[in-house]
Amino acid sequence: MQKITILKPDDWHLHVRTGRELKSVIGMSAAQMGRGVIMPNLNPPITNSTQALKYREEIINSLPNGSEFNPLMVLYLTDNTTAKDIEDASKHTHIRAAKLYPAGATTNSDSGVTNVNNIYPALEMMQKVGMLLLVHGEVTHADVDIFDREAVFIKDVLGGLINKFPELKVVFEHVTTKDACDFVVSSSNNVAATITPHHLLANRNDMLAGGIRPHYYCLPVLKRSKPHQSALLGAATSGSPKFFLGTDSAPHLKEYKESSCGCAGVLNAHCAIELYATAFESAGALDRLEGFASKFGPDFYSMPRNQDTTTLQRKEWTVPDSYPCGKSSIVPFMAGEVLRWKVV
Ligand code: DOR
Ligand code: ZN
Repeated sequence: MQKITILKPDDWHLHVRTGRELKSVIGMSAAQMGRGVIMPNLNPPITNSTQALKYREEIINSLPNGSEFNPLMVLYLTDNTTAKDIEDASKHTHIRAAKLYPAGATTNSDSGVTNVNNIYPALEMMQKVGMLLLVHGEVTHADVDIFDREAVFIKDVLGGLINKFPELKVVFEHVTTKDACDFVVSSSNNVAATITPHHLLANRNDMLAGGIRPHYYCLPVLKRSKPHQSALLGAATSGSPKFFLGTDSAPHLKEYKESSCGCAGVLNAHCAIELYATAFESAGALDRLEGFASKFGPDFYSMPRNQDTTTLQRKEWTVPDSYPCGKSSIVPFMAGEVLRWKVV
């Protein structure tokens, strides 16, 4: 196949930051995606409607001229989020979801939730008004190995939460394990998951064998090829509407990644759909890319699918070594590597 045309995709999990970083990366998503679900883990986090709408304005003002990208906003849940905060947010069509970050799980999650019991009133209201719950699914206890944190979260937190709020729509974000794929498949139709391109294309060997490669470091951390990476590829290409596109593109300046304590996050927005096409082709499933990238996400969010299309062409090109950001730069996923698909 030399060309593939699909309905325009959306990114259901995206970090774009603020200020100069926002300006450096937002055009990448706007060039490929119709909509983006914008993660609220700023410092300080986006915890109410006023902040969410102000942040949305900043994003729109940072877009390149003429782009039609639609940012969908998300509230950051804390121990103090009230049912009223949720009810207020649900009145704004641009605010679609709230995100559960277990405190300490990842970048800017210090204000996250220390115990899910603390957000039961908020969850009850979300269930009532039909607001989606997006979940960073990892426990944070020091005594749980970092490679096991997702599986333990399912057992200790997520299973119980879903039983308690069976009508709540839940997106298990950036799943990284076979355990998570199996859990989502066996849960009700109110439970779905996003899968990132880097978790489809890379495993922990890419990050750790033969030297530490900090630009592969993200959370949840890359797992083993078997059974985890292969389970993700199986889930994404299965045609199940429970799995859809969410890049978790998360830019960090080069110096913060290449550090003695480097931060977590991978920029992949520069070629997200090309990366997914590469993964789907490796599984002989390019015909299933459109469902995953452009149909199942809006269906789960009860939003219309995009009407325009995107065409990918078979063409070799080399990913840049870095993108400028102020006086610094951001090193993208697959820097310097050759990809074989390009958006026309
Ligand atoms: O790798 C990650 N980076 N995982 C997250 O959950 C957060 C993100 C970020 O904001 O940098
Ligand atoms: Zn994320």
